Amino acid sequence: MHLTSGAVGLRPLRLRDRKAWDRLRRENIEWLRRWEATAPEPNAYRPTFAQYVREQNQASRRGLAYSFVVEHEGEMVGQLTISGITRGSLQSASIGYWISEHAAGRGIVPSAVAMASDFCWFEIGLHRVEINIRPENAASLRVVEKLGFRDEGFRERFLHIQGAWCDHRSFALTLEDVPEGLVSRLTDSRRRNGPTRRRG
Ligand SMILES: CC(C)(COP(=O)(O)OP(=O)(O)OC[C@H]1O[C@@H](n2cnc3c(N)ncnc32)[C@H](O)[C@@H]1OP(=O)(O)O)[C@@H](O)C(=O)NCCC(=O)NCCS
Repeated sequence: MHLTSGAVGLRPLRLRDRKAWDRLRRENIEWLRRWEATAPEPNAYRPTFAQYVREQNQASRRGLAYSFVVEHEGEMVGQLTISGITRGSLQSASIGYWISEHAAGRGIVPSAVAMASDFCWFEIGLHRVEINIRPENAASLRVVEKLGFRDEGFRERFLHIQGAWCDHRSFALTLEDVPEGLVSRLTDSRRRNGPTRRRG
């Protein structure tokens, strides 16, 4: 499963990504620490890289979750996950993401989220996509703002981050909000307002 929009690509994590993945994670420990989900149980299962890749691939084959490497001009720069897929009368999923500090500020994650949302609606038949963000994460709040996600309110002690239960704001879109798809909406808005420029 490979998705592309301009210079940004989404593809599954592969066993041969281990070195590049380890380097990217190592270089971004401080950049990501504040925002990374943690396990509340002290003895939680921690998979090796190979186990992680296999589990992600199994989950996507079964339609339970999808984990993508985010690429920019062919270089691995981050990760996007579609998780918490609920079928039945809800047909919803949550999207999570991170990108390497060296690639931030180029509008890569908005493009990746737009592709992942279109994948949820048009490829796997979901109705709703949701993104949960800590109120103090200004950069991530800009991502959902650029994409026109609706603010659905405050969830107290919603996710375990950096060792504590942290409040989040929930943002969502349903297919009726974007019948033309989010990639198309983002492309139009960039055409009108100009592309994202890197800061600094
Ligand atoms: C949040 C994040 C995913 C945004 O991805 P991105 O591809 O940089 O998104 P954008 O290029 O659209 O930038 C979004 C905002 O980040 C901020 N930003 C841009 N460059 C930045 C930099 N070098 N350092 C810090 N923040 C920066 C700006 O406020 C920008 O908004 P603007 O375009 O209106 O100026 C990325 O900053 C990240 O991975 N952060 C750490 C992990 C994280 O927060 N994950 C999300 C948890 S909900």
